[in-house]
Amino acid sequence: MDFKYSGENVNKISTDLLVVGIFKGDKFHGSVKSVNDALGNALRELADDENFDGELGKSVDVSRTFGKIGAKRVLLLGLGDKLRFSSGTVRKAANITARKLRAAASHVTFGPEFNGGKGYIAALAEGVMLGAYGFDKYKTKNGEEGGIENVVIVSESMKDRRFEDEIFEAKAISESTCLARDMVNEPPVYMTPSRLADIASAVADEGGMRCEIFDLEEIKRRGMEGIAAVSRGSAEPPRFIHLTYEPRRKPKASLAVVGKGITFDSGGLCIKPADSMRTMKMDMAGAAAVLGIMKAVACLKPSVKVHGLISTCENMTGPAAYKPDDVIRAYNGKTIEVINTDAEGRIVLSDALSYAVNLKVDEIIDLATLTGACMVALGTYTAGVMGNSQKLIDRIIKAAGGAGEKMWQLPMDEELRPEIKSDVADMKNVGSRWGGAITAAMFLENFVGNTDWAHIDIAGPAYNEKESNWSPKGGTGFGVRTLVSYIMDR
Ligand code: BES
Ligand code: MN
Ligand code: ZN
Repeated sequence: MDFKYSGENVNKISTDLLVVGIFKGDKFHGSVKSVNDALGNALRELADDENFDGELGKSVDVSRTFGKIGAKRVLLLGLGDKLRFSSGTVRKAANITARKLRAAASHVTFGPEFNGGKGYIAALAEGVMLGAYGFDKYKTKNGEEGGIENVVIVSESMKDRRFEDEIFEAKAISESTCLARDMVNEPPVYMTPSRLADIASAVADEGGMRCEIFDLEEIKRRGMEGIAAVSRGSAEPPRFIHLTYEPRRKPKASLAVVGKGITFDSGGLCIKPADSMRTMKMDMAGAAAVLGIMKAVACLKPSVKVHGLISTCENMTGPAAYKPDDVIRAYNGKTIEVINTDAEGRIVLSDALSYAVNLKVDEIIDLATLTGACMVALGTYTAGVMGNSQKLIDRIIKAAGGAGEKMWQLPMDEELRPEIKSDVADMKNVGSRWGGAITAAMFLENFVGNTDWAHIDIAGPAYNEKESNWSPKGGTGFGVRTLVSYIMDR
C-alpha cells in the first residue's frame, strides 16, 4: 500500500473513494460542506434519510457522484464525540473504511479532518492496513482480488519528514500485526512447533537478529522438563525459541517478551469437549505476538535490548502423554504436580520464564492465551494484566490505551494463593474454578524470581469468533501494538 499526502481541494481530487468525517451532532462545514454543496445536497439528504448523526462506526455512502466532483464515490464517516476525538478515533474510522471497502476501491482519499496532529497519520495508515487484512490463503480464487493500493491524505500543512516517519512506523506495526494474525489463522496441521520455529528464524534473518532454537534433545538436556512433558502426547516435536534484538549503542534497558506457543490444545488426557477444542489452533497467539513484536522491533530499532522467548509444542493425548498426578521439575528446579493436563500453558511457560530470569533482564512480559477464566472475567475484547510490579503494569496499561488495545488489571489476591499449594510437589498446576486467571498468574510468579514481571492473559482478545467493527474474524494480532509502543517509549 502506498501513502501520499496532498494539498489539493477535496472536490478536485481524482480518486475511487473520498472519505470525509463529521463529529456527532455537528453541522456540515469544511470539506463535508464543500462536497455536499458540489453534490447538490446529496450528503445531507442521505444522512437525514438514514438518521445518521455522526456516531463513530456509522456512515453514509454516496455510491456515485456523476462527475460532479473528482471522486467517484463518497463516504461520510461518523467520528463520534468531538471531545473524545483522538488518534484512536482515526484508527477506528480508517479501519471501518478499509473493512467496508475490501476489493471495491483501489485509490482512497481521506479529508483533512483526519489529520489532527502528531500520531494521527500513523493511526490512519495503521487503521487502513489493518482493516484491509483478510486471510484467504485456502480459498480457491474467485477473481475477487484487488483492494486498496493507494491512500491519499488531504492536508493543508504537512512536513515530508513527519509524514514519512509516521508511515514507516505504521507499516512496521501493521505488517507485524498481520504476521501474528496469519500465524494464528493458519490451520494447526500447518502451524506446527517446527514451522513456528522456521518462521522465527526467518524473522530473525530478515531483521538481523540472533536466533537460537532448541529441539527436544536440547530442551531435555537443559532441564526444560515442562515443555518436554507437555509435548510428549504429540507426534510433533517441541521447540524452544530465543531471538535477540540488540541496539547499536549501549542499551538503556533490557527486557524479555515471552509467548505461549501451544499450536494445538486438545486438553491432553484431560481432553476438552468438542466445542471447546475448536479454535484451539489459536493457543499459540502469545508466541505469534512475540514474533510480531520482534519483527517490528528489528525494523523500528529502539534503544533497549529485547529478547523474544517462545515455548512451543502441541498438547495431545498420544500414548506417551503426560498425566494427571505426574510431577515435573521445571527449568528453575521447582516441582509441579499435574492436576489437569489442560492447564498446560503455565507449565510450558515455567521453563521460558525461568530461562528469562537467567538472562538477567530488567523486565519480563509474557503473553499467553492462558485461561478461559480471564474471558469470563473480562469478556472477549479485553486482556487481563497481572504481575509483581505495579509500575510495569501501569506502563503497559497506559501503552495499551494509546495503541487502541483494551487491557485491565486483575488483583493478585493473596487469599487465593493457597489454591495452588500441593502436598507432593512445590505447587499444583490448577486451583479451584474461582479466580482461575489469578491463580494461573500466581503459578507463573513462581518462575520469575525477583525480576519485574507482567503477565498478559490474551485468551479473549487474541481471537474473534466473529468479525467486530474494527477487528477481523480469527486472529487479531493482539498485544503487538501495545508492546511495540511500550518498547519504543521505554
Ligand atoms: N488454552 C486454554 C485457555 C483458553 C480457553 C484460551 C479458551 C482461549 C480460549 C488453556 O490451556 C486451558 O485449557 N485452560 C483451562 C485451565 C483449567 C484446566 C484450569 C481453562 O481455562 O479451562
Ligand atoms: Mn489447555
Ligand atoms: Zn492452552
